[in-house]
Amino acid sequence: MPRKIMIPVLTLMLALPAAAQQAADAVDPEIAVALPGAFAGLSEAAADAWATREAGQPVEAERWMVAVQNPLAAEAGARVLRAGGNAADAMVAVQAMLGLVEPQSSGLGGGAFLVWYDAETGEVTTLDGRETAPLAATPRLFQDADGAPLPFWDAVMGGLAVGTPGTPALMEEAHRRWGRANWAGLFDDAITIAEEGFAVSPRLAGQIAGDADRLTRFDATAAYFYPDGEALAEGDIRINPDYAETLHALARDGASAFYRGPIAEDIVVAVRGAEGAPGLLSLEDMARYRVIERPAVCTDYRGHEVCGMGPPSSGAITVAQILGKLAHFDIDAMDPQAPETWRLIGDATRLAFADRGRYIADSDFVPVPVGGLTDPDYLVMRAGLLRREDALPEVPVGEPEWDHARLQASDTDPERPATSHISIVDAEGNALSMTTTIESGFGARLFVRGFLLNNELTDFSFRSHADGWPIANRVEPGKRPRSSMAPTVVLRDGAPVLVTGSPGGAPIIVYTATHILAHLDWGMDVQAAADMPQLVNAFGTYILEEDTWAADLADPLEAMGFDVSIGPRPSGVQAISIMDGRLFGAADRRREGIALGE
Ligand code: GLY
Repeated sequence: MPRKIMIPVLTLMLALPAAAQQAADAVDPEIAVALPGAFAGLSEAAADAWATREAGQPVEAERWMVAVQNPLAAEAGARVLRAGGNAADAMVAVQAMLGLVEPQSSGLGGGAFLVWYDAETGEVTTLDGRETAPLAATPRLFQDADGAPLPFWDAVMGGLAVGTPGTPALMEEAHRRWGRANWAGLFDDAITIAEEGFAVSPRLAGQIAGDADRLTRFDATAAYFYPDGEALAEGDIRINPDYAETLHALARDGASAFYRGPIAEDIVVAVRGAEGAPGLLSLEDMARYRVIERPAVCTDYRGHEVCGMGPPSSGAITVAQILGKLAHFDIDAMDPQAPETWRLIGDATRLAFADRGRYIADSDFVPVPVGGLTDPDYLVMRAGLLRREDALPEVPVGEPEWDHARLQASDTDPERPATSHISIVDAEGNALSMTTTIESGFGARLFVRGFLLNNELTDFSFRSHADGWPIANRVEPGKRPRSSMAPTVVLRDGAPVLVTGSPGGAPIIVYTATHILAHLDWGMDVQAAADMPQLVNAFGTYILEEDTWAADLADPLEAMGFDVSIGPRPSGVQAISIMDGRLFGAADRRREGIALGE
């Protein structure tokens, strides 16, 4: 039987500040909450954390906090932190567990970006563990014989879009730099649960059922997710001995066990042998994989320093552009539910996405004007375009200052949502924000050694040129596809005050920017800011979250000239704020996460 936790409604209503109450009202007001049956065996702390988030409240703690998208993964991280491990140690345990219990979103077969705030030095470091195009890839990877882009799902399924995974190397590199717990022990929980079995969560079960045709196309994938031809259902106990064996190898020999030898060989065989859709990945690609430290992109927002991941992610630059334009308006005095507020945010976002499509890609391959795109004078100029009463009739790409001359065309490919986010603050005050992915839900649908392989290369532009100009984010051998992942640490006076990020494809940028804005400008606590309805306008259509007050803005926004549609907006903000020495954790109620702390 699922546990039921009762929270007195009145107490909660009185405890919420006005803005937070407004946001909490926007989502399901049910206060008597059952921990889903699939998580019934978890600790009292996990059950309490679930109840707290369902009540629209942040979880509070004094020493450490971990906020992730699955309760088992949160518990794995909490155990490490409780035992004196730090945020880098906890991340390894969390990621190992996510790859087992939330395999559709992230795992060893994918890639990730990590932002680290170091309490001792006060420095922010960003690590790029993004998947990488095989050396045999060409700009025509996703084009047919006539140069026309392939249909999206033809590119996703099978080997073609599999890039060299980066997550195992990133786990090891973060642990090598900052970790202090014994590496091998960090895999213990995930190994035990892989061997003994975990209960399939409601979200995983729903996604398996909704992906039947694709998940049953390749035998190994079908055998895992559709044993005996039947979809795994919520609450089914799934063992994954192959994953346990893979983790044993990683625990024993480090990431080299993944990039060389039998695991790498099986990955390459699966990719190159994918029936009807062979890919290009080679043993050399695997052996050459490296995590890259990139300069953190840190920009000012109303006295805060917002730090995140630079190219090949577009996350930090685009978040900085959105906030940098809005900084010229009195957003803090504006009503969070007013159409005028969302006119400004929506068009600030559209302008930022226009620049993103033209200029941002892997900076090891194309010059990216990071300084020009985030320059305050440039953003003042772009903000000037927003001084009007209706929607922008057109969304021009800007002309930021360049240190290179370059003519390129815009990439207009959308990206599809999947992905997971991890936020951790440890007892020493280190903060870690990591967004991790295998790209689309269940990635390339190739299952090897107990985990799924990514389809990250579909984050490249399928077109290599437009109007005679090259597209910055075209496929090239050894290049990393542009990402929207936006792991973020916000600092004030050099110390972190907010650790945040979200899954969700290109809207990740909007989910992250508006989470920061709702917390800093509208004073919402982290949970209320995560619960706030999502309104996303990246590419022209303003998508308003269904069944929330956002949908009520459809008519006024349409009257201003926006194309509007109403639909689901599955953000997954996992965040921690730090105020007066206390930690406040949030887990987006649209997914299955919790925040745990002590
Ligand atoms: N594949 C999701 C992203 O990197 O943005």
